[in-house]
Amino acid sequence: MEIKIQKDYSELSSTVADIVKHQIQRKPNSRLILPTGSTPIGLYKELVNRKLNWKKVETFNLDEYLDNTIWEQSYRYFMDENLFKHINIDDDNIYFPGDTAIWPEMSYGENADLCILGIGTNGHIAFNEPGSSFDSETRVVDLDEQTIEDNSRFFDSVDDVPKQAITMGLKTIMKSKKIVLIANGVHKYKILNVAMNGGVTEKVPASILQKHNNVEVFYCD
Ligand code: GLP
Repeated sequence: MEIKIQKDYSELSSTVADIVKHQIQRKPNSRLILPTGSTPIGLYKELVNRKLNWKKVETFNLDEYLDNTIWEQSYRYFMDENLFKHINIDDDNIYFPGDTAIWPEMSYGENADLCILGIGTNGHIAFNEPGSSFDSETRVVDLDEQTIEDNSRFFDSVDDVPKQAITMGLKTIMKSKKIVLIANGVHKYKILNVAMNGGVTEKVPASILQKHNNVEVFYCD
């Protein structure tokens, strides 16, 4: 699969913001699947600046920690701070896995118009860790040691990182009409290349994307 190399983080963010913009303009009631992590921060900044009409857009976040004791490290807080509180989205159109109103509804996030993904250093997408079934749907998962270590930078200590999360499954992600994967930093290149050009295996969850017919992958170092 082609990995589209961007000249820097700013180009990566604005290229993907254009894709989201065109999607919303073409279909104002688009269903979008959205990621968290450090990679999409620039994308969300760009989207805020573009002053799009989010009134009818529905968003489904990929994942959320399973821990009631954190708020500022929760993905809902991240999305509020980086995107939702700066745009005119209707609060009723914002969905998170684990929301009591829809959980354990298996149709969560299905048939999205556009799904944006990051990738973990172990090849995870959302919180589908290595070994996740390609048939998986929304469910509770145990986080991988590597993921806990990687995400500890957002917490005071590694012991504070939640050990479980709720994640959209790989089968649901693959039902999206279009998928865009973004990766930033040399430390991501190796796994990105393995996922896109190595074997398709549940050991590398992102490799499932090779089976989708409408995926774009953007990378900058
Ligand atoms: C977390 C999220 C993933 C995200 C990954 C990469 O583990 N669950 O959805 O893709 O982090 O994060 P970063 O962009 O900070 O490298």
